[in-house]
Amino acid sequence: MSSHRFLTGITPSGTPHLGNYVGSIRPSVQASQRADVQSFYFLADYHALIKIDDPARIQRSTLEIAASWLAAGLDPQRVTFYRQSDVPEIPELTWLLTCVTSKGLLNRAHAYKAAVDQNTAAQQEPDANVNAGLFMYPVLMAADILMFNAHQVPVGRDQVQHIEMARDIAQRFNHLYGEHFTLPEAAIEESVATLPGLDGRKMSKSYDNHIALFAPRAQLKKLVGGIVTDSRAPGEAKETEGSALFQIYQAFASADETAALRQAYADGIGWAEAKQMLFERIDREISPMRERYTELMAAPAKIEEILLAGATKARAIAGPFTAELRRAVGLRDLRSVATSKSPVKTAKTALPLFKQYREADGKFCFKLTEPGGRVLLQSLGFDSPREAAAAIQLLQREGQSALVKLKTCLQPQEGIGAQDIEAALQQLAAAG
Ligand code: TRP
Repeated sequence: MSSHRFLTGITPSGTPHLGNYVGSIRPSVQASQRADVQSFYFLADYHALIKIDDPARIQRSTLEIAASWLAAGLDPQRVTFYRQSDVPEIPELTWLLTCVTSKGLLNRAHAYKAAVDQNTAAQQEPDANVNAGLFMYPVLMAADILMFNAHQVPVGRDQVQHIEMARDIAQRFNHLYGEHFTLPEAAIEESVATLPGLDGRKMSKSYDNHIALFAPRAQLKKLVGGIVTDSRAPGEAKETEGSALFQIYQAFASADETAALRQAYADGIGWAEAKQMLFERIDREISPMRERYTELMAAPAKIEEILLAGATKARAIAGPFTAELRRAVGLRDLRSVATSKSPVKTAKTALPLFKQYREADGKFCFKLTEPGGRVLLQSLGFDSPREAAAAIQLLQREGQSALVKLKTCLQPQEGIGAQDIEAALQQLAAAG
């Protein structure tokens, strides 16, 4: 049985590019094939709502990303592959966690702080254009992770703080309500280099320097042709250091192939020829997947079906776990109260009671009664409610010795001894 659980969320906010493939899709699909690991992959579409208000784009991206993962070899039979918004237990857990999360913790989240810093620098209100979703982002992410009690969450460096927050939140919940959650850890893939983009900076949608993962062959060729190189002519030796072309090649090639290109650089390979090599090498790995991708994109109903089946699998875990958590925090079936004979409960209903009231003459009095209604103590009238309350406090604090001090303010009750009063006061003290 696999006991180690991995979980990864992918926000559907765009079209996957080669950087996503090398940095996330490929290593995750490989990891999912390990026998000792139980993997959860999901499309974090609730997260996408935080930054995207274009419904068609979210739908399109969800389809593209799901198709990409499946085309890259993710096996939905082996792993649990689902869409976040198909698991309503996740937003429910988000609320339970929200209520144990300190606002200060969220104030310190990098993404939120960056938005505030940017506003401050632009001399705007600190929270200008910050929606509450961005602020709550770490709690939703904690719910994603804690719901499945993931041990490890493979993420990039930018997400490490979020995993730490999920741990903090889990610890707080466990402290209050018992050990329900596994404390997750970030699994940072040191060996996975970030892929440079066309301009040599990190490949990213926001830099507009990316190569779409499943760009058609002709387009892929064209994009590879646009990778920045220096102006060295064919025949001149080239530097591998700092060459985006070389780094991208390395991400796809074997050690031998990489060594061969290194040699070709030294021997003065022309850039056009090097680009042709890179294009061929990428296409060799990608083209079988591209075919599957094209097929899948043409069959959205099939992808929908796969995701719904994944959600059923996910909810088989999330449903019972949520029921356990609801019970833990006190969102419970009321019938269990009626039949409960817990000692705490009995003690509570059977407690004596101090009652303050005002007499017809305008004076303020109190009495102490037993649960059955028998009066144990009856005060004379005080001029103010404060004095009556002070006398009650004295009795609660000092018990029998207060009886002596308050003698002149109390009326003796027929058949009630000091020990009856003392017993009642002790009972009250014990109940806190
Ligand atoms: N925040 C992640 C990102 O932007 C996506 C994500 C949402 C996630 N929930 C998660 C990742 C849970 C790991 C675990 O990349």
